[in-house]
Amino acid sequence: MDRLTLLADPAVRSAFSSEIGREIEFHASIGSTQDRARELARAGVAHPTVVVADHQTAGHGRGEKSWLSEPGASLLASWTFRPMPAEPALFALLAGVAVARALRTFGTADLGLKWPNDVWLTGGKIAGCLAHADGQGLVLGIGVNVSQRELPREIADTATTLRRAGHDIDRLALLARITTELDVIADPRARPDALAEWRTRSITLGREVEVATTPPERLRGRASGLADDGALLVETPYGQQRVIAGEVRVLG
Ligand code: BTN
Repeated sequence: MDRLTLLADPAVRSAFSSEIGREIEFHASIGSTQDRARELARAGVAHPTVVVADHQTAGHGRGEKSWLSEPGASLLASWTFRPMPAEPALFALLAGVAVARALRTFGTADLGLKWPNDVWLTGGKIAGCLAHADGQGLVLGIGVNVSQRELPREIADTATTLRRAGHDIDRLALLARITTELDVIADPRARPDALAEWRTRSITLGREVEVATTPPERLRGRASGLADDGALLVETPYGQQRVIAGEVRVLG
């Protein structure tokens, strides 16, 4: 049983809002929860808010990518934080740890974190995170593949869903758990533990990688470490490179 759409009822929304300590804006369908939450942040809405949707018609992934989802099958949400808890790139990376911690409470094992902020489960991407600085705060968006029957062709080779991995998880419960874990990593005192957990769960460190960096450049080498600001350290024939933003392909 999936209870996320109960949030359409103002009474449920109000009770759940007290439970998670945030205003909740629920949309049966919206272009992008990230665009909507950024709009709220730019308008100066100070109260912590989460924008949730059952379906997005124009979801964004990192870079220029789209985030595709069928109605009723993903957790699609964007949280506002004010003041900014960390630089967006670092916070999105730590959000991967928050998602992994949340999923673990539902009994998922075999979780991995791929730099910069993808969560993998049993060999496929299960969730992605995205952060933007807006107004005086930060907007963090997370998409979790929960129960899609079919994954879009573009991601069919690399993505998976919780259901395929054998987990039937209620999106409302997952929303609550992820919110709690995000509030934990938003506290700078929790950062060393979260970074340590990222390093332990990483499926990128120690591997040969090809990185398409932003601004565009391509480099190959061994991913040797994660700096405390979230940068990936790559040992190349030309010395160590620090990659702040980019996409990684694991070569072996
Ligand atoms: C990525 O891995 O590329 C990041 C994906 C982030 C997707 C989520 S879904 C909810 C929120 N709204 C969006 O438009 N994007 C984020």
